[in-house]
Amino acid sequence: MTLKTIGVLTSGGDAPGMNPCIRAVVRTALSRGLNVMGVREGFMGLLQGDIIPLTARDVGGILQRGGTMLGTARSPEFMEKKGQREAIRHLNEFAIDALIVIGGDGSMRGARALAEQGVTVVGVPGSIDNDLWGTNMAIGVDTALNTIRSAIDQLRDTASSHRRAFLVETMGRDCGYLAVMAGMIGGAEMVLIPERDTSVDEVAETIESAYKRGKTHAIIVVAEGANLKSIALAESLNNMDIGFKTRVTILGHIQRGGRPSAFDRLLATRMGVAAVEALLGGESDVMMGLEGREVQPVSLAEVVRHKRAANLEYYDMVSMLAF
Ligand code: F6P
Repeated sequence: MTLKTIGVLTSGGDAPGMNPCIRAVVRTALSRGLNVMGVREGFMGLLQGDIIPLTARDVGGILQRGGTMLGTARSPEFMEKKGQREAIRHLNEFAIDALIVIGGDGSMRGARALAEQGVTVVGVPGSIDNDLWGTNMAIGVDTALNTIRSAIDQLRDTASSHRRAFLVETMGRDCGYLAVMAGMIGGAEMVLIPERDTSVDEVAETIESAYKRGKTHAIIVVAEGANLKSIALAESLNNMDIGFKTRVTILGHIQRGGRPSAFDRLLATRMGVAAVEALLGGESDVMMGLEGREVQPVSLAEVVRHKRAANLEYYDMVSMLAF
């Protein structure tokens, strides 16, 4: 099949770097003589036919912007066969020969479902969670980590001044990657993640031990999917005599916004270019992955078959380094 027109969409939770990726996709495709259609609001836009042509000028001025100019959504309808049929109907109606899907694990599942029905599709990993198998880093992770690092640095100032413990809640429903790495770069006493259960007593002992060792504060990073929930945990800790009183800061969606870091812009740009090149080279049913220093295609079937967990080696390192 000769490729004439490609479509691009962003789906799932937005991630800083999606915009530079869209820009790279559009301009690479145009420079190779292809037409580009932008699908608004992810798979939802695809099944509703919310599709617009994209020119080089349409993607001007977005390189440095967080979020996604195409919009994004989570679309339960698309997970149903009926929704997928509608989506394919719109791909045909707009004469889109191949689709680039930028998003996280749910989006790669969607991309795989389309590939299974004969659509030519290439995925690009974009999610602050870094829970996608097949790539060392997803687009957005580095910027989110920098946001968390700066928040922890600021919290440490007030924590030390008041001699307090802080529970800092990061995103990551199912994966503790962000929390572990934030704990490492933020000098946390310990990290609570979905991959490991922790008891209130263990947290209390860690805080009390930091207090007794003469520390002026204790930072505990709590992933949102950890077995202990930060607000309830703080309440329990404040009813115990462990030296420090505890406060909670939930970073929430702040982690998803902001200007993409240099690393994310570069990764997003490289992946966007590589995704178009992959389509032109006849690839389909793959996701672009960062392996070592190289961006290369990995099978979408493998991506959706595996789940990436937080690196438990680093998890233990955080507590060791807090000594
Ligand atoms: O998948 C990215 C993510 O930010 C998760 O870390 C978080 O659990 C979830 O999205 C929040 O989703 P929403 O923006 O739909 O509330």
